[in-house]
Amino acid sequence: MRLAQTRRHFDEIDSTNTYAMNWTDAPDGALIVADSQTQGRGRLGRHWTSPPDVGLYFSLVLRDLAPEVKARLSLVVGLAVAQAVEECAEISVQIKWPNDVLTRDRKIGGILCEATPDRVVAGVGLNLNQREEQLPERPIFPASSLLLQTGRSFDRDAVLNALLASLELGLESADWPTQRAHIEARLYGRGDLVHAGNATGLLQGIGDDGALLVRTADGVVEVRSGEVEFF
Ligand code: BTN
Repeated sequence: MRLAQTRRHFDEIDSTNTYAMNWTDAPDGALIVADSQTQGRGRLGRHWTSPPDVGLYFSLVLRDLAPEVKARLSLVVGLAVAQAVEECAEISVQIKWPNDVLTRDRKIGGILCEATPDRVVAGVGLNLNQREEQLPERPIFPASSLLLQTGRSFDRDAVLNALLASLELGLESADWPTQRAHIEARLYGRGDLVHAGNATGLLQGIGDDGALLVRTADGVVEVRSGEVEFF
């Protein structure tokens, strides 16, 4: 699938996800990208800090996804973000289930997928050139940016293009086992003792529908929503 054949760019917007959710006849693969957001949204009603010109803030409208692809979309987008960062910044990146992108225990990006009956909106926020004072305070997994991690600044279009290219491949790939292996290789806390959903056990991996697999004393539990706590 070709992404971003249709693009809308905004210097400032409330939220690219909100815009995409309201754009009812957006074509498949449409990209909404902004230089800044005044009401950037994260998961669980959180705010996504989006100062001008230093980060990537965008949403894609995706139609006709198979149900199993929809279910694991956050992770597939997370993998594309990780691969783009690895390629552009040459640092290693972890995916924290279900939607965080981390490097060295710090959050550099997040994914917010929202669905309507006929489409899914996949929103990505990625911190590129933020200085410390432009980042939000986070008690656990403090925020960071590629600039702070590497000492270099990054061209937003170059990172966006790398990310879209990775995601196009990811969405075309029918080879879920290989894709899952790439996600699991970057899965934060794999093998660690965690609490997620109602389960406490060892973080084992990812199920076919993107669920987190936790190995407990009573067997493997599939967790489909919520956060993971690490001990
Ligand atoms: C999270 O980590 O909770 C997800 C953050 C997602 C932020 C992006 S920025 C572009 C898009 N528009 C939004 O309002 N949110 C997403």
